[in-house]
Amino acid sequence: MAIELVPLPLPASADAAKLADFGREVKGVNPAEMTPELFKEIEEALYKHGVLLFRDAKVSSAQQYAFTKAFDPQSESYGHGNNKTGETKKSILHPDLKTIPSVPQVQLIGNGTVYNHEGLAEAKLKHPSHTTFHKTKVSPEDEAKGHTRFYRWHIDAALYDLNPPRVTTLYGITVPQGEKQVCRYDDGTGDELEVPLGTTAFVSGQIMFDILPAELKSLAVRSKVRYAPHPYVWMAPAHAMSTGLGIESEGLELPLEDLPAWEESKLKTLPILWKNPKTGGLHFQVHPCGAKELLVEPLPEGANREGALYPDGAHLTDLKEVRGLLYNMQRPAIAPSLVYPHDWREDDFVIFHNRGVLHTVVGAFAPDQVRAFHQCNLAASDEPVGPSAEDIKAYA
Ligand SMILES: [Fe+2]
Repeated sequence: MAIELVPLPLPASADAAKLADFGREVKGVNPAEMTPELFKEIEEALYKHGVLLFRDAKVSSAQQYAFTKAFDPQSESYGHGNNKTGETKKSILHPDLKTIPSVPQVQLIGNGTVYNHEGLAEAKLKHPSHTTFHKTKVSPEDEAKGHTRFYRWHIDAALYDLNPPRVTTLYGITVPQGEKQVCRYDDGTGDELEVPLGTTAFVSGQIMFDILPAELKSLAVRSKVRYAPHPYVWMAPAHAMSTGLGIESEGLELPLEDLPAWEESKLKTLPILWKNPKTGGLHFQVHPCGAKELLVEPLPEGANREGALYPDGAHLTDLKEVRGLLYNMQRPAIAPSLVYPHDWREDDFVIFHNRGVLHTVVGAFAPDQVRAFHQCNLAASDEPVGPSAEDIKAYA
């Protein structure tokens, strides 16, 4: 039986032609009850469309873990390692999640205080927001008018020691409703985007690559990013750009010698482009906040050198330069017309291809706006695969 796939409701701001393949609602399927045949179809659909939505889902933590694990049966621990609650207190992730005691791969995230939740007597949750992370702020007056920002565009990944999860599942259990907000970019472009309160915004990593000019495609296909050791601790004292797409270079990162103990062999050096295992497409998958260095391969023999960036290769270690290049490559794809802001309803169950899309939390909640989500992703059993020799020949 073929599953029924319906396009996601795109907002008026979206370029429907560019986002034609992006995201699908799966009708009549309960992610808690999978058969191997059904799972195969879902997996195929996920890698093709990037984001899948199941409405009116009833999924236990154990079932969410089982469904998430099915995409990578050899994976076992949460994407940042199990039992995060109480550990790595310096990490900026720490206040944002509480581990479900019986299923430590599943995290409770949200806002406000949640009581008697799956073995957690009292969980104080804080929706991460731009108000604590960005260099510049939305003024309280503008905030009262419903203006807000993207928090942080990212891939779900520890980016140190552990491999980036293949998929993430998000289950909306308690979803406060409220007025729509205006998400401002505040980067001099005048860009803004109307968003539902507390949306999760998604962009396609494939579109991010597709819309680049030839010289940046060539740079992307030849480059790898080296992430900082313990990147979330490293970046904790720093401030984000107003678009949430990376860090302002102010020299505020924690010095390497002040980080918790780290080993060279556990650093992550990952290609900029990750190859989709089903479609073969190339997705621009960089977590800009954690990026520290760029390693650029020289142009392959016979490639046209005219206008090429770093034709002889380079190892870039200047943070400002690294961030500037990444920003120029990633900013076009977060244009308002290319963003899908999901409008959460209670019992929405969303799975996204974490190696094919970028996403961000948006907006800010008042302490009395209680929101409870379950999130699950698993440190992958393998590293993402980069461009093939043919890909490099085609784009370098
Ligand atoms: Fe995330």
